[in-house]
Amino acid sequence: AGSGKFFVGGNWKCNGTKDSISKLVADLNSAKLEPDVDVVVAPPFVYIDQVKNSITDRIEVSAQNSWVSKGGAFTGEISVEQLKDHGVKWVILGHSERRHIIGEKDEFIGKKAAYALTEGLGVIACIGELLEEREAGKTFDVCFQQLKAYADAVPSWDNIVIAYEPVWAIGTGKVASPEQAQEVHAAIRDWLQKNVSAEVAPKTRIIYGGSVNGGNSFELAKKEDIDGFLVGGASLKGPEFATIINSVT
Ligand code: G3P
Repeated sequence: AGSGKFFVGGNWKCNGTKDSISKLVADLNSAKLEPDVDVVVAPPFVYIDQVKNSITDRIEVSAQNSWVSKGGAFTGEISVEQLKDHGVKWVILGHSERRHIIGEKDEFIGKKAAYALTEGLGVIACIGELLEEREAGKTFDVCFQQLKAYADAVPSWDNIVIAYEPVWAIGTGKVASPEQAQEVHAAIRDWLQKNVSAEVAPKTRIIYGGSVNGGNSFELAKKEDIDGFLVGGASLKGPEFATIINSVT
């Protein structure tokens, strides 16, 4: 960990029921969490109200997606204004599942990030390469192209956390080694330095996602440019998510 306050997000993805979420929230409410960590959970939209009304103020609520403009005739979408109406503070954008399963493209994701930021939400901006891209030696190219799409669109980097999630590590149990993650995080910071500004680079938090669990988070957290985590599967277990939060060094 290096820049800024350690940041740990729990991306619950399309998981949970009213009952399982009520138990998860109760576990999180009773967990002892290190004070110097920003903690955010991202429930499915339909459970945001339940979570917001029951979770401790210590933990902020994020959405997993938001619409690219003001709401209106956009069947099936949820607007930034509606999220704010529910006290949501963050939104995850550019997640690989939305890029590769739903088909969202760089430019569209950049526009969503710009809109959310302009309206006052914080953005967890995800990037990351596929296995074949890594094997072809294109990891940096892919990450930089995805970063550029954000940089070209956003009005400011004040409220952005970058989540590096190598797609081959997501939900596979194959976590990136601390060295592999550190190498890409350092390259991202260098890219920010050269392409955004010398001020933004050191202060932007770059978090890692992909098979993070209570057993590997401590080693990852020791790395200089790993400023936190975006956790999927392990964030559905309250005590384990607390362990990950508390791996701040
Ligand atoms: O956004 C978090 C994520 O994609 C990682 O998922 O289940 O590998 O921790 P998981």
